[in-house]
Amino acid sequence: MAKVLVLYYSSYGHLETMANAVAEGARAAGATVDVKRVPETAPLEVAKAAHFKLDQAAPVATIADLEHYDAIIVGAPTRFGRLASQMASFLDQAGGLWMRGALNGKVGAAFTSTATQHGGQEVTLFSMITNLLHFGMVIVGLPYSHQGQMNMTEIVGGSPYGATTLAAGDGSRQPSEIDLAGARHQGELVAKTAAKLFS
Ligand SMILES: Cc1cc2nc3c(=O)[nH]c(=O)nc-3n(C[C@H](O)[C@H](O)[C@H](O)COP(=O)(O)O)c2cc1C
Repeated sequence: MAKVLVLYYSSYGHLETMANAVAEGARAAGATVDVKRVPETAPLEVAKAAHFKLDQAAPVATIADLEHYDAIIVGAPTRFGRLASQMASFLDQAGGLWMRGALNGKVGAAFTSTATQHGGQEVTLFSMITNLLHFGMVIVGLPYSHQGQMNMTEIVGGSPYGATTLAAGDGSRQPSEIDLAGARHQGELVAKTAAKLFS
């Protein structure tokens, strides 16, 4: 049975919801799944002033956790077109694991959220995927087996590079059924790939 970590950062809850959907998909495919978040690095007064969702159920991950999983699915929102610094700061502390090659050959994947349709989804996904490739991980995206990403009658997230959602400028849009289906499907694909590689 593959061991999967869904590791996310979320200021306003969109990625938290997506992380739980990714986890649901991985569990449905038979994996043992933990959902953890990375530490908040913004000062408390800044986070409060910006109305961050500070009460999130997921435990906070440590770097030491990472090597205990067969697959790590990383989710962070866009900040100015690239990944949020909270996640970058966490991953930047994994130099020791990188030196030992501790994550080599594990399965990696990325998911994200932006305010707008063209506000940086693909670049943000790749900013995380680049990091995972440096760790030596084997990347799983979100192929067109998630047919929802072809939908042109409504605004939808989802790209071949990973599951996504759109939050709108004021955060009022929540992940849609199609966005959540993409997240579940990516979780399922990662779990199945890890099971093939590690069972
Ligand atoms: C400082 C800052 C910069 C942002 N930059 C972008 C951006 O470049 N493009 C975009 O579409 N959304 C941008 N956003 C919106 C966030 O991506 C959005 O709030 C996030 O996807 C919601 O996910 P969350 O609820 O998990 O935090 C930005 C938000 C903040 C606070």
